[in-house]
Amino acid sequence: MFDNFFTMFNNFFFIGLPYIAILLLFGGTLYRLFFGFKGAFRKMDWTSRGDFLWTTRSTGFFGRASIGPAVLCLHWGVITLFVTHLAGAVGGVLSLIVWVNFFRWVGMFGGILLLYGLIWAIVRRIVISQVKAMSTLEDYIVLIFLILITSFGLYQSAIKLVFGVTYSFAPWLWSVVKLQPDPSFMVGAPLVNKLHIIVALIFFAYFPFTKLVHALPIRLHIFGDHTFP
Ligand code: HEM
Repeated sequence: MFDNFFTMFNNFFFIGLPYIAILLLFGGTLYRLFFGFKGAFRKMDWTSRGDFLWTTRSTGFFGRASIGPAVLCLHWGVITLFVTHLAGAVGGVLSLIVWVNFFRWVGMFGGILLLYGLIWAIVRRIVISQVKAMSTLEDYIVLIFLILITSFGLYQSAIKLVFGVTYSFAPWLWSVVKLQPDPSFMVGAPLVNKLHIIVALIFFAYFPFTKLVHALPIRLHIFGDHTFP
């Protein structure tokens, strides 16, 4: 009975969920770009300049100084983690130990940087009354998602000192990309790593419907005109 439950759990989270996340991440972005309820007023082109539904609803007017180092730590942390996860995925499939070690140590640095920025950002939203007044539920949900994902990652690598899951996670990811998902690669992964991946996939599915889409036009600007608005 427990075996059945465990297999269903593994199948849903490591076969179904990745595809749901990929579909919503890309489909949701396209929908939002051209048709979405939060994009109804946008111009039909590749930029989002002048489109206030795609901004982060900046709190700068009330608390520019209080955002302090958080904004730098957040963005550099995310960029570092993106690059290191990619290196870990490639290194894990091709058994490149240096790449996997790069993931471990530089990823840990990126994780600490990100977590510091996230905690600063959420405390600031709660403590500064003007920033709190203009915060929406979405502002908190996004931060809580990222705090959970980063904490699970760091708990595993910096506190439990478990590393090397990359060697099974990367072949699993590759099996998903090849459209031949094989959840058996993830069976032996520690629960905290499974939770890390599951919460991250749910977060990716939610991503296109949040203010975080402000990250995408950086690339879209490459295709579009740069005039404002
Ligand atoms: C917002 C998205 C994500 C964030 C912020 C994030 C953050 C982190 C952090 C901070 C670590 C610890 C890194 C280290 O100490 O070297 C980590 C490890 C890890 N992450 Fe993520 N992660 C994200 C998404 C994902 C996704 C989508 C996957 C898989 C599909 C994933 C798979 C892993 C694995 C397997 C490890 C541990 C590697 C090992 O033990 O070998 N992460 N992550």
